Amino acid sequence: MKKRILLVLVVGMVIAMAATAMAEPIIIKFSHVVAVDTPKGQAAEYFKKLAEERTNGAVKIEVYPNSQLYKDKEEMEALQLGSVQMLAPSLAKFGPLGVKQFEVFDLPYIFDDYDQLHKVTLGPVGQSLLKKLEPKGILGLAYWDNGFKVMSANKPLRVPEDCKGLKMRIQSSKILEAQMRALKAIPQVMAFSEVYQALQTGVVDGTENPPSNLYTQKMHEVQKYVTLTDHGYLGYAVIVNKKFWEGLPADIRTQLESAMADATTFANDIAKKKNDEDMAAVKASGKSEVIALSPQERALWKNALIKVHEEMANRIGADLIQEVYQATGFKK
Ligand code: LMR
Repeated sequence: MKKRILLVLVVGMVIAMAATAMAEPIIIKFSHVVAVDTPKGQAAEYFKKLAEERTNGAVKIEVYPNSQLYKDKEEMEALQLGSVQMLAPSLAKFGPLGVKQFEVFDLPYIFDDYDQLHKVTLGPVGQSLLKKLEPKGILGLAYWDNGFKVMSANKPLRVPEDCKGLKMRIQSSKILEAQMRALKAIPQVMAFSEVYQALQTGVVDGTENPPSNLYTQKMHEVQKYVTLTDHGYLGYAVIVNKKFWEGLPADIRTQLESAMADATTFANDIAKKKNDEDMAAVKASGKSEVIALSPQERALWKNALIKVHEEMANRIGADLIQEVYQATGFKK
């Protein structure tokens, strides 16, 4: 009798193991709007590789780059509805979701370099910002770097006054809107996937983005001048649908978290290099004239834009701005 019970148990276990092995993989759809050959595009591919390896194929990551699946605004809705499970939107795109505090990253000249930025993204201020997503049914897993923005147009932008009257495409951030207004330009919110055509047809006159986005979207082919203003930062929060993530088996979640930690290191390691390379490629293309600013010219841009910090303190929270200043050692 005992032998029989043992046999039944063993057979049961073998069947259960075989069933697990044959089970359909868990699919994670990861949608984003940029080209594959960008810091975010590369990091998404690297995360896919690590996640699939570490879960022994129990998870399959389907990466959809270049707005293939959804555009900016739609992808946020799709995540909340569970139609996609993972995104990495720019930090400038969380306002419409009701989490305006992320727009602190958009304040002009708030970070001088990546070291200062990391004091926030890798520190307690960054973590407390991610927590604000939870009531929206979203979990923030990590920050991924992109880089510092340049301005482009069909006329040379050497001093802030050169922007006067220009229609400038921005992401959906009220801080970026205030920034363009401070330059007396006319801000136009537009999905990333529509920018190239809008520049080409003259629907907008200019835009801002880190070199990696400018180059991979070929914006420099339809913009005669690019100014190295480095006036603001653009980076990402990697986010998941909370219900989906918390419903994953604990061991799988741990493996995915370790893949995410390594993909984050990878993203932040390649971001600066990729932007430097892409800026060099823009110069080499000869399609746009690249304008470098003297320290005096840079001071004029900073002077014109820094007032946006105070102007928008009510929207973002004066306390949060102070916390960022303290973390980075910001000086006007
Ligand atoms: C943009 O819309 O300009 C950027 O957010 C695109 C991106 O994801 O880098």
